[in-house]
Amino acid sequence: MKEEFKLKKPINHIAFIMDGNGRWAKKRLLPRTAGHKEGCKRIVEVIRFCKKLGVKCVTLYAFSTENWNRPKSEIDFLFRYLKEFFDDYIQEFIDTKVRVRTMGDLSRLPEDTVKTIERAKELTKDCDQLVFNICLNYGSQQEIVKAAKEIAQDYKDGKLNLDDLNPETFNSYLYSKDLPKVDLMIRTSGEERLSNFILYQVAYAEFVFTKTYWPDFRENELIECLKEYETRDRRYGKIEE
Ligand code: IPE
Ligand code: IPE
Ligand code: MG
Repeated sequence: MKEEFKLKKPINHIAFIMDGNGRWAKKRLLPRTAGHKEGCKRIVEVIRFCKKLGVKCVTLYAFSTENWNRPKSEIDFLFRYLKEFFDDYIQEFIDTKVRVRTMGDLSRLPEDTVKTIERAKELTKDCDQLVFNICLNYGSQQEIVKAAKEIAQDYKDGKLNLDDLNPETFNSYLYSKDLPKVDLMIRTSGEERLSNFILYQVAYAEFVFTKTYWPDFRENELIECLKEYETRDRRYGKIEE
């Protein structure tokens, strides 16, 4: 019998760049949307498994500020499907105490999708087993600039003393303000770049890149990434004693 995987040390926060849906579909001569559909199934599996492992927060990059450059038909599909996804899984999130949370500017998303997501956030706001943080119309540079503007405004209004501005207080102006520090960032599909994802938040995260396309990213693939993470020595600038 397969031995159950357990983390050697607790992990608070894992961030995923879910990539490769389109290539997964192309390889099978299917439309790109088929890759997004299959990819959505992996999302719940990842959430369930991370919860079982005791991970506190899962951040998923689902739609970047640059993804608006895709064909309208693909964008429309993605947001329609996202709405269906939350309609299908909201009850499970409530039952298993998963809190839904977002990062990014939702105002540009279709109204019915936003309504469903806001409802999911509201219905799960007291859930405390795992935070499911989904990034939609998210860009890290935009997030940092937005923070800088708010800081300037607070300074102007006399609400912020410049001596009080440090990496922690700066963090409190970001979408991720109440989340634990990112321990591990995983990107699927073989690309090794951040694509405007949580630049500030990954300052001391470990990065694991896997060639697997997101729709093929099952429990075993995640276990391989976690095993790789566990080989890393997180020194934070210190040296061995
Ligand atoms: C990731 O898969 C999903 C989104 C960015 C929405 P892609 O759609 O980027 O798939 P590839 O990279 O084209 O294979
Ligand atoms: C990053 O993937 C964005 C998401 C996963 C939502 P992309 O496929 O859009 O990134 P690039 O274009 O390869 O950098
Ligand atoms: Mg891609």
